[in-house]
Amino acid sequence: MGLLLGPNVNVLGFTPPTLLLFLLCLLLVALSSSAGPPSSAASSPGGICSSAVVSHGYKCQEFDVVTPDGYILKLIRIPEGLALEGSGSAGDARQPVLIQHGVLVDGLSWLLNSPELNLPFILADNGFDVWISNTRGTRFSRRHTSLDPAYQEYWDWSWDELVSHDLPAMFDFVHAQTGSKVDYVGHSLGTLTALVSLSEGGLGDKIRSAALLSPIAYLSHMTTALGLVAARSFLGEITTLFGLAEFDPKGEPVGRFIRVLCAFPGVVCYDLLSAITGQNCCLNTSTTDSFIKNGPQSTSTKNMVHLSQTVRDGVLRMYDYGIPAANVLHYGDFYPPAYNLSNIPWELPMFLSYGAQDALSDVRDVEQLLSKLRFHDPDRLVVQRVEDYGHADFIMAVNAKDVVYNSVVSFFKNQW
Ligand SMILES: *[C@@H]1O[C@H](CO)[C@@H](O)[C@H](O)[C@H]1NC(C)=O
Ligand SMILES: *[C@@H]1O[C@H](CO)[C@@H](O)[C@H](O)[C@H]1NC(C)=O
Repeated sequence: MGLLLGPNVNVLGFTPPTLLLFLLCLLLVALSSSAGPPSSAASSPGGICSSAVVSHGYKCQEFDVVTPDGYILKLIRIPEGLALEGSGSAGDARQPVLIQHGVLVDGLSWLLNSPELNLPFILADNGFDVWISNTRGTRFSRRHTSLDPAYQEYWDWSWDELVSHDLPAMFDFVHAQTGSKVDYVGHSLGTLTALVSLSEGGLGDKIRSAALLSPIAYLSHMTTALGLVAARSFLGEITTLFGLAEFDPKGEPVGRFIRVLCAFPGVVCYDLLSAITGQNCCLNTSTTDSFIKNGPQSTSTKNMVHLSQTVRDGVLRMYDYGIPAANVLHYGDFYPPAYNLSNIPWELPMFLSYGAQDALSDVRDVEQLLSKLRFHDPDRLVVQRVEDYGHADFIMAVNAKDVVYNSVVSFFKNQW
């Protein structure tokens, strides 16, 4: 799609700000969905197994995982690779690995390249038992034991609940099914939730090691005019616009909101994917097309507001209700409790890979994260910097296998 692959245009000549991930993704969809049949591919029937796994010859299973607050999440399992038997010791249990996507996408985003380039297949072919999660509110994880996504109550959560409920529930499930500690791969918001969950002790001893791609924890390097406009609008108007509700990138209210934002003087919403993610070096046109067709996925407005608070405040705190009395009601304090990443177990093996062109996982923010990890056992912290990678390269680049995934595989294998 020419829209995506046009010359890179930086907003006001600065690195595009962090928050644009969320905002511009939406415009992207608003534009692309107005061109095609209404949300066709996005709502096409069949789960991830039938649409993207079995057709490539892999075994695939689907599980429902129920969180303590009643959300029913779809977990996909690719239990083994295509490699001939005998490449691993037969009968040995395979090491499970859980793969977690970021915000406004779902588990399918890991499976859009040609098969030999996709991380889940690469891990399966290397002897891993692969599990792919789908966050609450995305297309395959929209069920609940009692709430209906058509109603506000369903959307009353932010990344706090992904930290305290979704991630631990998925670790518990995979651990119970396999009897093994679980390796983890997260991208983008999937790194934030893991880091915070680890610091809160939420994953207990069920995690063996973590590979974090495009890590985001601190999001404060957003100093451009558009970023500030966006953060203000998000925090102020969006709550009034949408209330406590579904944040559906494919919906018209969100599209309208974005168009208004892009009409601000000096704000250029042109080369959207680059503006959102930084300049991605190595995306294949047909893969980005599938990415667009696949359609960004819903999250809660409350989650978007919480992310905006993280951008604005530069600290990791629980959701801020904005009114001291409301915070007192929820937390017993005027301010939401802070998270402390220095509490991540110092001996947990971690692999961090970040792109120097990544507008979302800004290099300075990654450095702040690393400073929080300064007491981490240096032998158990591998940091990789990829000079030409933007945010989306980590899930879709044609060379991600050579540049990143092979290192992830050897990092995990080193723990054996
Ligand atoms: C892009 O992806 C398509 C479909 O997977 C593939 O046929 C094509 O060869 C790829 N192009 C490049 C340059 O990798
Ligand atoms: C965060 O945790 C570290 C290590 O446990 C501790 O030394 C530090 O004081 C904590 N910081 C805050 C702000 O609580």
